[in-house]
Amino acid sequence: MTVEAAVPELPPDAIRPEPALGLGPRMMPTRYFLAPLAGYTHLALRRTLRDLGGLGLATTDLVLATHLLSQHRHSLELVETTTDDTPLSVQIFGGQTRDLVNAARWLQDHGYQGVDLNMGCPMAKVNSQGGGARLLCDADNACRLVEAVVAAVTVPVSVKMRLGWDRESISAPYLASRFEQAGVVAITLHGRTRQQGFGGTVNLDGIAETVAAVSKIPIIGNGDVRTAEDAFHMRRVTGCAAVAIGRGALLDPWLFRKIADVEAGRVPYEPTPAEQIDFLVRHFTRMTEQHGDRSCLLFRKFAAWYGAKLGIPEDLEQRLRLFESVDAFHALVAEIRERHGERQSPIATALVKVPNGPIEHW
Ligand SMILES: Cc1cc2nc3c(=O)[nH]c(=O)nc-3n(C[C@H](O)[C@H](O)[C@H](O)COP(=O)(O)O)c2cc1C
Repeated sequence: MTVEAAVPELPPDAIRPEPALGLGPRMMPTRYFLAPLAGYTHLALRRTLRDLGGLGLATTDLVLATHLLSQHRHSLELVETTTDDTPLSVQIFGGQTRDLVNAARWLQDHGYQGVDLNMGCPMAKVNSQGGGARLLCDADNACRLVEAVVAAVTVPVSVKMRLGWDRESISAPYLASRFEQAGVVAITLHGRTRQQGFGGTVNLDGIAETVAAVSKIPIIGNGDVRTAEDAFHMRRVTGCAAVAIGRGALLDPWLFRKIADVEAGRVPYEPTPAEQIDFLVRHFTRMTEQHGDRSCLLFRKFAAWYGAKLGIPEDLEQRLRLFESVDAFHALVAEIRERHGERQSPIATALVKVPNGPIEHW
């Protein structure tokens, strides 16, 4: 006799199964997206996350329009993609409308399916050029820019922004409605102001007001989602059509799969240590496909993160920071398979550095 596993009740906060979401003509496989985290959400990580299931749209790290147009090596690497890295939007930024228009055209001509305009980046350098979050203070200019980019390409254009410059100037609801009229297909909204940086809490009311301010386009809520419950809560409280998850996806790369499991009435489960180590191996292997031997150096950035995630002892973490060849990597992985879990580690997300106080970066 077989005993069928009971289908679990959806948690009270869960969102019931619902129709697929379209961003303009593009249909999304799920409503849970990867928010860009410059320096982390590169091609190899995106592909490795997608393998786990449940991920909808991913967006590249932000790319400076002028660098893309002048074919900077780093910018070209940032926009590199593969057939399994889909759906994908490329995020561009810059202060000059002409540059953004030309970068969007370049992306369309090179087969990219979506362009995302960054209006949430508060970097001093970006703002002094008039780009990034500074655009939030000048609605007419921001709208002209968006209109020009939308008019220049046929691929869908979206915007990512914060609630506003500071508490006194919450501009997102007004801007979202203007951007909708200008023809963007979606807006990702980090529920903090520029002034807040990464401090304080995400203002869900501000996201809800922005949802109410648009008539058709989806608002993608963003900020501090760490668990499936957080994601469902954000959607339920704000009415946002989708959720973008940044640091939470690093804290738990299996988060998208878990959300999909809950939605499908399955019991979400934790990855085994073997699965976590396989994730590390696939991530590195995909980096080598893009960067060859340079991956050994580039992977250093992830040593502390994997060290914390896998609880590997410090000597192994240090070697993960210093290995110089693919063979050395695989020898190291064999040891990690033996010795993971030996160390109590800090929460991995704490290792994604965010600036203190009023933001200078992001
Ligand atoms: C290290 C780091 C890099 C980021 N890079 C970008 C970026 O390239 N483009 C962007 O629009 N936002 C960027 N952000 C902001 C995130 O996309 C997101 O809006 C923010 O982290 C809040 O969401 P979370 O709590 O899910 O991480 C970055 C944030 C961090 C911490």
